Amino acid sequence: MNRMVIDTDRSPFRVSRHIYGHFAEHLGRCVYDGLWVGEDSPIPNVAGHRLDLLEALRALRMPNLRWPGGCFADTYHWRDGVGPRETRPRMVNVHWGGTTEDNSFGTHEFLDLCERLGCEPYIVGNLGSGTVREMAEWLEYLTHPGPGPMADLRKGNGRERPWNVLYWGVGNENWGCGGGMTAEHYANEFRRYATYCRHFGGGRLYKIACGFTDDWNETLLRLAARQMDGLSVHYYAFVESWEVKRSATGFSEQEWYGLLRNGLGVEGFLRSTRTRLDRYDPEGRIGIVLDEWGAWYDAEPGTNPAFLYQQNTIRDAVLAAASLHVFHRHADRLHMANIAQTVNVLQAMALTDGPKTVLTPTYHAFEMLKDHQDGEFLPVHPLASARPHGAEDLPQVSLSATRSGDGSIHLSAANLDASDEAEVEVEFRGGAPEACSARLLHGSRLDAHNDFDRPDEVRPIVWDEPRLKDGLLRMRLPTRSVAALRLA
Ligand code: AHR
Repeated sequence: MNRMVIDTDRSPFRVSRHIYGHFAEHLGRCVYDGLWVGEDSPIPNVAGHRLDLLEALRALRMPNLRWPGGCFADTYHWRDGVGPRETRPRMVNVHWGGTTEDNSFGTHEFLDLCERLGCEPYIVGNLGSGTVREMAEWLEYLTHPGPGPMADLRKGNGRERPWNVLYWGVGNENWGCGGGMTAEHYANEFRRYATYCRHFGGGRLYKIACGFTDDWNETLLRLAARQMDGLSVHYYAFVESWEVKRSATGFSEQEWYGLLRNGLGVEGFLRSTRTRLDRYDPEGRIGIVLDEWGAWYDAEPGTNPAFLYQQNTIRDAVLAAASLHVFHRHADRLHMANIAQTVNVLQAMALTDGPKTVLTPTYHAFEMLKDHQDGEFLPVHPLASARPHGAEDLPQVSLSATRSGDGSIHLSAANLDASDEAEVEVEFRGGAPEACSARLLHGSRLDAHNDFDRPDEVRPIVWDEPRLKDGLLRMRLPTRSVAALRLA
Protein backbone atom coordinates (compact mmCIF):
# COMPACT_ATOMS: atom_id res chain seq x y z
CA MET A 1 0.00 0.00 0.00
CA ASN A 2 1.16 3.53 -0.82
CA ARG A 3 -0.29 6.13 1.53
CA MET A 4 0.32 9.83 1.33
CA VAL A 5 -0.91 13.18 2.54
CA ILE A 6 -1.21 16.21 0.28
CA ASP A 7 -1.27 19.74 1.69
CA THR A 8 -4.01 21.54 -0.18
CA ASP A 9 -3.89 24.78 1.77
CA ARG A 10 -0.27 25.79 1.30
CA SER A 11 1.94 26.04 -1.71
CA PRO A 12 5.59 27.03 -1.34
CA PHE A 13 6.16 27.84 -5.03
CA ARG A 14 4.86 27.63 -8.57
CA VAL A 15 5.84 25.02 -11.16
CA SER A 16 6.98 27.03 -14.18
CA ARG A 17 5.49 25.89 -17.45
CA HIS A 18 9.02 26.04 -18.84
CA ILE A 19 9.78 22.78 -17.04
CA TYR A 20 7.68 21.21 -19.81
CA GLY A 21 10.05 22.56 -22.49
CA HIS A 22 11.40 20.88 -25.61
CA PHE A 23 14.55 20.70 -27.69
CA ALA A 24 15.08 20.41 -31.45
CA GLU A 25 18.59 20.10 -32.83
CA HIS A 26 19.88 19.85 -36.38
CA LEU A 27 20.54 16.18 -35.74
CA GLY A 28 19.36 13.15 -37.70
CA ARG A 29 15.71 13.58 -38.67
CA CYS A 30 14.58 15.96 -35.95
CA VAL A 31 14.44 19.14 -38.01
CA TYR A 32 14.79 17.95 -41.62
CA ASP A 33 12.32 15.18 -42.43
CA GLY A 34 10.84 15.75 -38.98
CA LEU A 35 9.49 19.16 -38.05
CA TRP A 36 10.44 20.66 -41.39
CA VAL A 37 9.55 19.08 -44.73
CA GLY A 38 9.65 22.25 -46.86
CA GLU A 39 6.86 23.93 -48.80
CA ASP A 40 7.27 21.70 -51.85
CA SER A 41 6.88 18.45 -49.95
CA PRO A 42 3.92 16.14 -50.78
CA ILE A 43 3.58 15.75 -46.99
CA PRO A 44 0.89 18.18 -45.82
CA ASN A 45 2.59 21.24 -44.40
CA VAL A 46 2.08 24.87 -43.52
CA ALA A 47 4.90 27.09 -44.77
CA GLY A 48 7.15 24.01 -44.76
CA HIS A 49 6.25 22.84 -41.23
CA ARG A 50 4.75 19.38 -41.08
CA LEU A 51 1.04 19.83 -40.37
CA ASP A 52 0.30 16.71 -38.31
CA LEU A 53 3.20 17.52 -35.99
CA LEU A 54 2.14 21.14 -35.61
CA GLU A 55 -1.29 19.99 -34.48
CA ALA A 56 0.03 17.31 -32.14
CA LEU A 57 2.63 19.58 -30.55
CA ARG A 58 0.16 22.42 -30.08
CA ALA A 59 -1.97 20.05 -28.02
CA LEU A 60 0.96 19.70 -25.60
CA ARG A 61 0.92 23.44 -24.86
CA MET A 62 4.67 23.50 -25.48
CA PRO A 63 6.05 26.39 -23.46
CA ASN A 64 9.38 26.73 -25.25
CA LEU A 65 11.62 25.16 -27.86
CA ARG A 66 15.42 25.10 -27.64
CA TRP A 67 17.34 25.32 -30.94
CA PRO A 68 19.63 24.83 -32.97
CA GLY A 69 21.60 22.50 -30.65
CA GLY A 70 23.16 20.81 -28.72
CA CYS A 71 26.59 20.27 -30.15
CA PHE A 72 25.39 21.64 -33.47
CA ALA A 73 24.93 25.10 -31.93
CA ASP A 74 28.67 25.69 -31.56
CA THR A 75 29.23 24.97 -35.25
CA TYR A 76 26.28 27.03 -36.49
CA HIS A 77 26.70 30.39 -38.21
CA TRP A 78 23.35 32.13 -38.23
CA ARG A 79 24.02 34.29 -41.30
CA ASP A 80 24.19 31.11 -43.40
CA GLY A 81 20.55 30.46 -42.50
CA VAL A 82 18.89 33.75 -43.50
CA GLY A 83 18.04 35.26 -46.89
CA PRO A 84 16.85 33.45 -50.03
CA ARG A 85 17.08 29.70 -49.48
CA GLU A 86 18.60 29.03 -52.91
CA THR A 87 21.66 31.10 -52.08
CA ARG A 88 22.25 29.91 -48.52
CA PRO A 89 25.67 28.29 -48.16
CA ARG A 90 25.94 24.65 -47.19
CA MET A 91 27.97 23.14 -44.38
CA VAL A 92 28.96 19.76 -42.99
CA ASN A 93 27.20 18.71 -39.80
CA VAL A 94 30.36 17.36 -38.19
CA HIS A 95 28.84 16.10 -34.96
CA TRP A 96 25.94 14.19 -36.42
CA GLY A 97 27.02 11.90 -39.21
CA GLY A 98 28.81 14.38 -41.48
CA THR A 99 25.61 15.09 -43.39
CA THR A 100 25.30 18.17 -45.58
CA GLU A 101 23.29 20.91 -43.95
CA ASP A 102 21.72 23.16 -46.58
CA ASN A 103 20.59 25.80 -44.08
CA SER A 104 17.07 25.80 -45.49
CA PHE A 105 15.77 25.80 -41.91
CA GLY A 106 17.22 28.92 -40.30
CA THR A 107 16.29 31.77 -38.00
CA HIS A 108 13.07 32.81 -39.77
CA GLU A 109 11.85 29.24 -40.16
CA PHE A 110 12.54 28.46 -36.50
CA LEU A 111 10.81 31.57 -35.18
CA ASP A 112 7.90 31.02 -37.52
CA LEU A 113 7.60 27.50 -36.09
CA CYS A 114 7.60 28.88 -32.53
CA GLU A 115 4.87 31.36 -33.43
CA ARG A 116 2.76 28.60 -34.95
CA LEU A 117 3.29 26.42 -31.88
CA GLY A 118 2.59 29.33 -29.53
CA CYS A 119 5.84 28.69 -27.66
CA GLU A 120 8.80 30.81 -26.63
CA PRO A 121 12.07 30.42 -28.51
CA TYR A 122 15.20 29.48 -26.61
CA ILE A 123 18.20 30.02 -28.88
CA VAL A 124 21.71 28.73 -28.19
CA GLY A 125 24.44 30.94 -29.65
CA ASN A 126 27.77 29.75 -31.00
CA LEU A 127 30.58 30.38 -28.53
CA GLY A 128 32.75 27.42 -29.51
CA SER A 129 33.58 28.38 -33.11
CA GLY A 130 31.88 31.76 -33.49
CA THR A 131 32.76 35.27 -32.46
CA VAL A 132 31.40 37.78 -29.98
CA ARG A 133 30.42 40.01 -32.88
CA GLU A 134 28.50 37.21 -34.59
CA MET A 135 26.51 36.44 -31.47
CA ALA A 136 25.80 40.10 -30.70
CA GLU A 137 24.67 40.73 -34.28
CA TRP A 138 22.34 37.75 -34.18
CA LEU A 139 20.62 39.29 -31.16
CA GLU A 140 20.49 42.64 -32.92
CA TYR A 141 18.96 40.94 -35.97
CA LEU A 142 16.35 39.26 -33.81
CA THR A 143 15.35 42.01 -31.41
CA HIS A 144 16.24 45.47 -32.80
CA PRO A 145 13.14 47.37 -33.95
CA GLY A 146 15.20 49.41 -36.45
CA PRO A 147 16.37 51.34 -38.22
CA GLY A 148 19.79 49.75 -37.84
CA PRO A 149 22.07 47.50 -39.87
CA MET A 150 20.79 44.17 -38.55
CA ALA A 151 17.15 45.26 -38.33
CA ASP A 152 17.35 46.48 -41.92
CA LEU A 153 18.79 43.13 -42.99
CA ARG A 154 15.95 41.32 -41.21
CA LYS A 155 13.35 43.52 -42.84
CA GLY A 156 14.94 42.90 -46.23
CA ASN A 157 14.53 39.20 -45.49
CA GLY A 158 10.81 39.65 -44.99
CA ARG A 159 10.33 40.23 -41.27
CA GLU A 160 9.35 43.74 -40.32
CA ARG A 161 8.78 43.37 -36.58
CA PRO A 162 11.52 42.11 -34.27
CA TRP A 163 10.98 38.88 -32.40
CA ASN A 164 10.81 38.76 -28.65
CA VAL A 165 13.59 36.29 -27.91
CA LEU A 166 14.31 36.17 -24.18
CA TYR A 167 16.03 32.85 -23.49
CA TRP A 168 19.62 32.86 -24.71
CA GLY A 169 22.22 30.13 -24.31
CA VAL A 170 25.86 31.24 -24.42
CA GLY A 171 27.25 28.05 -25.93
CA ASN A 172 26.49 24.39 -25.27
CA GLU A 173 28.59 21.76 -23.49
CA ASN A 174 31.66 23.97 -23.92
CA TRP A 175 33.61 21.52 -21.76
CA GLY A 176 33.21 19.00 -24.62
CA CYS A 177 31.73 19.36 -28.11
CA GLY A 178 31.42 23.13 -27.64
CA GLY A 179 35.15 23.84 -27.60
CA GLY A 180 36.80 21.50 -25.08
CA MET A 181 37.36 24.37 -22.64
CA THR A 182 38.41 24.42 -19.03
CA ALA A 183 35.98 25.90 -16.53
CA GLU A 184 38.17 28.99 -16.02
CA HIS A 185 38.46 29.59 -19.75
CA TYR A 186 34.73 29.19 -20.32
CA ALA A 187 33.88 31.45 -17.38
CA ASN A 188 35.98 34.24 -18.89
CA GLU A 189 34.54 33.66 -22.35
CA PHE A 190 31.03 33.64 -20.92
CA ARG A 191 31.62 37.01 -19.25
CA ARG A 192 32.99 38.45 -22.47
CA TYR A 193 30.16 37.16 -24.66
CA ALA A 194 27.47 37.96 -22.11
CA THR A 195 28.64 41.58 -21.98
CA TYR A 196 27.67 42.05 -25.62
CA CYS A 197 24.52 39.94 -25.59
CA ARG A 198 21.55 42.20 -25.13
CA HIS A 199 17.92 42.50 -26.03
CA PHE A 200 17.90 45.44 -28.45
CA GLY A 201 14.17 46.04 -28.00
CA GLY A 202 14.35 46.88 -24.31
CA GLY A 203 13.45 43.40 -23.05
CA ARG A 204 15.51 41.57 -20.49
CA LEU A 205 17.54 38.68 -21.84
CA TYR A 206 17.72 35.56 -19.67
CA LYS A 207 21.35 34.51 -20.19
CA ILE A 208 22.15 30.86 -19.73
CA ALA A 209 25.70 29.70 -18.99
CA CYS A 210 26.95 26.22 -19.69
CA GLY A 211 27.28 24.11 -16.57
CA PHE A 212 28.60 20.57 -16.10
CA THR A 213 29.98 18.75 -13.05
CA ASP A 214 29.99 20.16 -9.53
CA ASP A 215 33.64 21.20 -9.89
CA TRP A 216 33.02 22.99 -13.17
CA ASN A 217 29.92 24.70 -11.77
CA GLU A 218 31.81 25.79 -8.66
CA THR A 219 34.48 27.53 -10.76
CA LEU A 220 31.97 29.02 -13.17
CA LEU A 221 29.77 30.36 -10.38
CA ARG A 222 32.73 31.77 -8.51
CA LEU A 223 33.85 33.69 -11.59
CA ALA A 224 30.64 34.54 -13.39
CA ALA A 225 27.55 34.16 -11.18
CA ARG A 226 26.74 37.86 -11.49
CA GLN A 227 26.52 37.71 -15.29
CA MET A 228 24.19 34.71 -15.59
CA ASP A 229 20.48 34.11 -15.08
CA GLY A 230 20.47 30.38 -15.70
CA LEU A 231 22.90 27.49 -15.39
CA SER A 232 22.48 24.87 -18.11
CA VAL A 233 23.01 21.24 -17.10
CA HIS A 234 22.24 17.97 -18.91
CA TYR A 235 21.14 14.62 -17.52
CA TYR A 236 20.54 11.57 -19.68
CA ALA A 237 19.26 8.19 -18.47
CA PHE A 238 20.89 4.97 -19.66
CA VAL A 239 19.92 1.39 -18.82
CA GLU A 240 23.44 0.79 -17.53
CA SER A 241 25.85 3.55 -18.47
CA TRP A 242 26.90 5.85 -21.30
CA GLU A 243 28.95 2.93 -22.69
CA VAL A 244 26.17 0.34 -22.26
CA LYS A 245 22.94 1.93 -23.37
CA ARG A 246 20.91 -1.14 -24.47
CA SER A 247 17.80 -1.39 -26.58
CA ALA A 248 14.68 0.77 -26.36
CA THR A 249 12.47 -2.34 -26.81
CA GLY A 250 12.71 -6.07 -26.09
CA PHE A 251 14.16 -5.58 -22.61
CA SER A 252 13.98 -7.52 -19.36
CA GLU A 253 12.47 -6.44 -16.03
CA GLN A 254 15.98 -5.86 -14.78
CA GLU A 255 16.56 -3.42 -17.64
CA TRP A 256 13.21 -1.76 -16.98
CA TYR A 257 14.34 -0.97 -13.45
CA GLY A 258 17.88 -0.12 -14.57
CA LEU A 259 16.61 2.69 -16.74
CA LEU A 260 14.19 4.04 -14.14
CA ARG A 261 16.79 3.87 -11.37
CA ASN A 262 19.29 5.69 -13.55
CA GLY A 263 16.73 8.24 -14.72
CA LEU A 264 15.50 9.07 -11.23
CA GLY A 265 19.10 9.75 -10.27
CA VAL A 266 18.28 13.16 -11.71
CA GLU A 267 17.01 14.14 -8.26
CA GLY A 268 20.45 13.65 -6.65
CA PHE A 269 22.00 15.47 -9.58
CA LEU A 270 19.66 18.45 -9.12
CA ARG A 271 20.31 18.45 -5.38
CA SER A 272 24.05 18.67 -5.78
CA THR A 273 23.74 21.33 -8.49
CA ARG A 274 21.54 23.30 -6.08
CA THR A 275 24.10 23.01 -3.32
CA ARG A 276 26.68 24.82 -5.47
CA LEU A 277 24.14 27.44 -6.48
CA ASP A 278 23.07 28.00 -2.88
CA ARG A 279 26.66 28.81 -2.02
CA TYR A 280 27.15 31.44 -4.74
CA ASP A 281 23.57 32.62 -5.12
CA PRO A 282 21.91 32.33 -1.70
CA GLU A 283 19.05 34.62 -2.76
CA GLY A 284 18.00 32.04 -5.35
CA ARG A 285 18.16 34.37 -8.37
CA ILE A 286 19.93 31.98 -10.76
CA GLY A 287 17.84 29.14 -12.14
CA ILE A 288 18.86 25.62 -13.05
CA VAL A 289 18.10 25.07 -16.73
CA LEU A 290 18.05 21.31 -17.36
CA ASP A 291 17.99 21.87 -21.08
CA GLU A 292 18.67 18.28 -22.11
CA TRP A 293 17.20 15.26 -20.35
CA GLY A 294 15.64 11.93 -21.21
CA ALA A 295 16.34 8.29 -22.04
CA TRP A 296 19.19 7.45 -24.41
CA TYR A 297 19.29 3.94 -25.93
CA ASP A 298 21.17 2.24 -28.75
CA ALA A 299 19.93 3.55 -32.10
CA GLU A 300 17.32 1.34 -33.77
CA PRO A 301 18.96 -1.46 -35.77
CA GLY A 302 19.35 -0.54 -39.43
CA THR A 303 19.38 3.22 -38.79
CA ASN A 304 22.38 5.57 -38.90
CA PRO A 305 23.79 5.45 -35.33
CA ALA A 306 24.71 9.14 -35.58
CA PHE A 307 21.01 10.01 -36.01
CA LEU A 308 20.07 8.77 -32.51
CA TYR A 309 16.73 7.38 -33.67
CA GLN A 310 15.13 5.18 -31.00
CA GLN A 311 11.74 3.64 -30.18
CA ASN A 312 9.78 4.75 -27.16
CA THR A 313 7.75 2.54 -24.81
CA ILE A 314 5.54 2.73 -21.76
CA ARG A 315 8.82 2.61 -19.75
CA ASP A 316 9.69 6.01 -21.25
CA ALA A 317 6.26 7.40 -20.40
CA VAL A 318 6.72 6.26 -16.79
CA LEU A 319 10.22 7.79 -16.75
CA ALA A 320 8.88 11.06 -18.18
CA ALA A 321 6.08 11.34 -15.61
CA ALA A 322 8.31 10.42 -12.66
CA SER A 323 11.03 12.83 -13.86
CA LEU A 324 8.51 15.66 -14.22
CA HIS A 325 7.43 14.93 -10.64
CA VAL A 326 11.05 15.34 -9.52
CA PHE A 327 11.21 18.63 -11.43
CA HIS A 328 8.05 19.86 -9.68
CA ARG A 329 9.72 19.27 -6.32
CA HIS A 330 12.69 21.41 -7.36
CA ALA A 331 10.74 24.08 -9.20
CA ASP A 332 11.83 26.78 -6.76
CA ARG A 333 15.32 26.50 -8.35
CA LEU A 334 14.57 24.72 -11.60
CA HIS A 335 13.45 27.37 -14.06
CA MET A 336 13.36 25.23 -17.17
CA ALA A 337 13.78 21.68 -18.46
CA ASN A 338 13.86 20.50 -22.08
CA ILE A 339 13.35 16.89 -23.02
CA ALA A 340 15.65 15.65 -25.79
CA GLN A 341 14.44 15.74 -28.53
CA THR A 342 11.12 16.62 -30.15
CA VAL A 343 10.92 14.31 -33.19
CA ASN A 344 12.84 11.20 -34.33
CA VAL A 345 15.75 11.74 -31.93
CA LEU A 346 16.26 10.21 -28.45
CA GLN A 347 13.16 10.34 -26.20
CA ALA A 348 10.95 11.90 -28.84
CA MET A 349 7.35 13.02 -28.78
CA ALA A 350 6.74 11.67 -32.28
CA LEU A 351 8.33 9.41 -34.88
CA THR A 352 7.88 9.89 -38.60
CA ASP A 353 8.31 7.67 -41.63
CA GLY A 354 7.54 9.46 -44.89
CA PRO A 355 3.94 10.64 -44.57
CA LYS A 356 3.27 8.52 -41.46
CA THR A 357 3.55 9.84 -37.90
CA VAL A 358 3.16 8.09 -34.57
CA LEU A 359 2.85 9.75 -31.21
CA THR A 360 4.96 8.07 -28.57
CA PRO A 361 4.00 7.05 -25.01
CA THR A 362 6.21 9.94 -23.85
CA TYR A 363 4.06 12.31 -25.90
CA HIS A 364 0.99 11.02 -24.08
CA ALA A 365 2.64 11.46 -20.68
CA PHE A 366 3.46 15.09 -21.54
CA GLU A 367 -0.04 15.69 -22.80
CA MET A 368 -1.65 14.13 -19.71
CA LEU A 369 0.52 16.11 -17.29
CA LYS A 370 0.31 19.45 -19.11
CA ASP A 371 -2.20 20.92 -16.62
CA HIS A 372 0.58 21.08 -14.04
CA GLN A 373 2.13 23.92 -16.05
CA ASP A 374 2.27 27.11 -13.98
CA GLY A 375 0.33 25.39 -11.18
CA GLU A 376 0.97 25.95 -7.47
CA PHE A 377 3.02 23.05 -6.15
CA LEU A 378 1.23 21.12 -3.40
CA PRO A 379 3.57 19.25 -1.03
CA VAL A 380 3.12 15.46 -0.92
CA HIS A 381 4.14 13.59 2.26
CA PRO A 382 4.54 9.82 1.98
CA LEU A 383 3.26 7.89 5.01
CA ALA A 384 3.87 4.41 3.62
CA SER A 385 5.60 3.40 0.40
CA ALA A 386 5.53 0.02 -1.30
CA ARG A 387 8.58 -1.17 -3.26
CA PRO A 388 8.63 -3.20 -6.47
CA HIS A 389 9.65 -6.81 -5.92
CA GLY A 390 13.28 -7.15 -7.06
CA ALA A 391 13.88 -3.39 -7.07
CA GLU A 392 13.40 -2.45 -3.44
CA ASP A 393 15.58 0.65 -3.82
CA LEU A 394 12.87 2.23 -5.99
CA PRO A 395 9.49 3.56 -4.93
CA GLN A 396 6.54 1.73 -6.43
CA VAL A 397 4.65 4.96 -7.04
CA SER A 398 5.65 8.48 -7.99
CA LEU A 399 2.98 11.11 -7.38
CA SER A 400 2.70 14.88 -7.65
CA ALA A 401 -0.02 17.50 -7.29
CA THR A 402 -0.51 21.14 -8.25
CA ARG A 403 -3.36 23.59 -7.99
CA SER A 404 -4.28 25.53 -11.08
CA GLY A 405 -5.70 29.04 -11.40
CA ASP A 406 -9.32 27.81 -11.40
CA GLY A 407 -8.80 26.15 -8.00
CA SER A 408 -8.83 22.56 -9.26
CA ILE A 409 -6.13 20.11 -8.19
CA HIS A 410 -4.18 18.20 -10.82
CA LEU A 411 -2.70 15.01 -9.53
CA SER A 412 -0.54 12.65 -11.57
CA ALA A 413 0.84 9.29 -10.59
CA ALA A 414 3.11 6.71 -12.17
CA ASN A 415 3.35 3.06 -11.21
CA LEU A 416 7.01 2.11 -11.67
CA ASP A 417 6.35 -1.52 -10.91
CA ALA A 418 7.08 -3.80 -13.85
CA SER A 419 4.77 -6.58 -12.67
CA ASP A 420 2.36 -5.47 -9.91
CA GLU A 421 -0.48 -3.04 -9.57
CA ALA A 422 -0.11 -0.35 -6.91
CA GLU A 423 -2.66 0.53 -4.27
CA VAL A 424 -2.71 4.23 -3.50
CA GLU A 425 -4.53 6.10 -0.74
CA VAL A 426 -4.32 9.88 -0.53
CA GLU A 427 -5.45 12.05 2.34
CA PHE A 428 -5.90 15.80 1.87
CA ARG A 429 -4.79 18.17 4.60
CA GLY A 430 -6.50 21.54 4.26
CA GLY A 431 -9.66 20.58 2.41
CA ALA A 432 -10.56 17.52 0.37
CA PRO A 433 -11.93 17.63 -3.18
CA GLU A 434 -15.33 16.16 -3.94
CA ALA A 435 -15.22 15.32 -7.64
CA CYS A 436 -12.72 13.48 -9.76
CA SER A 437 -12.11 12.71 -13.42
CA ALA A 438 -9.14 10.70 -14.63
CA ARG A 439 -7.24 9.30 -17.59
CA LEU A 440 -4.85 6.37 -17.67
CA LEU A 441 -1.94 5.33 -19.87
CA HIS A 442 -1.08 1.69 -19.45
CA GLY A 443 1.36 -0.72 -21.07
CA SER A 444 -0.09 -4.17 -21.66
CA ARG A 445 3.47 -5.52 -21.84
CA LEU A 446 6.88 -4.39 -20.66
CA ASP A 447 7.85 -2.74 -23.93
CA ALA A 448 4.40 -1.70 -25.17
CA HIS A 449 4.90 0.99 -27.80
CA ASN A 450 3.40 2.59 -30.88
CA ASP A 451 4.74 1.97 -34.34
CA PHE A 452 3.64 2.75 -37.85
CA ASP A 453 1.49 -0.40 -38.08
CA ARG A 454 0.00 -0.06 -34.60
CA PRO A 455 0.03 3.66 -33.83
CA ASP A 456 -2.41 3.37 -30.90
CA GLU A 457 -1.18 0.47 -28.83
CA VAL A 458 -0.37 2.88 -25.99
CA ARG A 459 -2.80 5.75 -25.66
CA PRO A 460 -4.68 7.37 -22.79
CA ILE A 461 -8.17 6.16 -21.89
CA VAL A 462 -10.83 7.54 -19.60
CA TRP A 463 -10.37 5.86 -16.22
CA ASP A 464 -13.16 5.66 -13.68
CA GLU A 465 -11.36 3.56 -11.05
CA PRO A 466 -10.32 6.36 -8.59
CA ARG A 467 -12.79 6.81 -5.73
CA LEU A 468 -13.26 9.83 -3.46
CA LYS A 469 -14.89 8.94 -0.15
CA ASP A 470 -14.73 10.37 3.38
CA GLY A 471 -12.05 12.82 2.32
CA LEU A 472 -9.80 10.05 0.94
CA LEU A 473 -8.81 9.27 -2.63
CA ARG A 474 -8.27 5.58 -3.37
CA MET A 475 -7.08 4.00 -6.60
CA ARG A 476 -5.40 0.86 -7.88
CA LEU A 477 -2.85 1.85 -10.48
CA PRO A 478 -2.29 -0.92 -13.02
CA THR A 479 1.27 -2.10 -13.42
CA ARG A 480 3.38 0.09 -15.80
CA SER A 481 1.03 3.04 -15.93
CA VAL A 482 0.66 6.80 -15.74
CA ALA A 483 -2.54 8.41 -14.45
CA ALA A 484 -3.71 12.02 -14.56
CA LEU A 485 -6.56 13.16 -12.31
CA ARG A 486 -8.46 16.39 -12.06
CA LEU A 487 -9.97 16.95 -8.63
CA ALA A 488 -12.40 19.71 -7.73
O1 AHR B 1 21.03 15.61 -27.56
C1 AHR B 1 22.13 15.05 -28.19
C2 AHR B 1 23.45 15.67 -27.74
O2 AHR B 1 23.67 15.34 -26.41
C3 AHR B 1 23.53 17.19 -27.78
O3 AHR B 1 23.86 17.68 -29.02
C4 AHR B 1 24.61 17.46 -26.78
O4 AHR B 1 24.47 18.72 -26.18
C5 AHR B 1 24.51 16.32 -25.79
O5 AHR B 1 25.73 15.75 -25.52
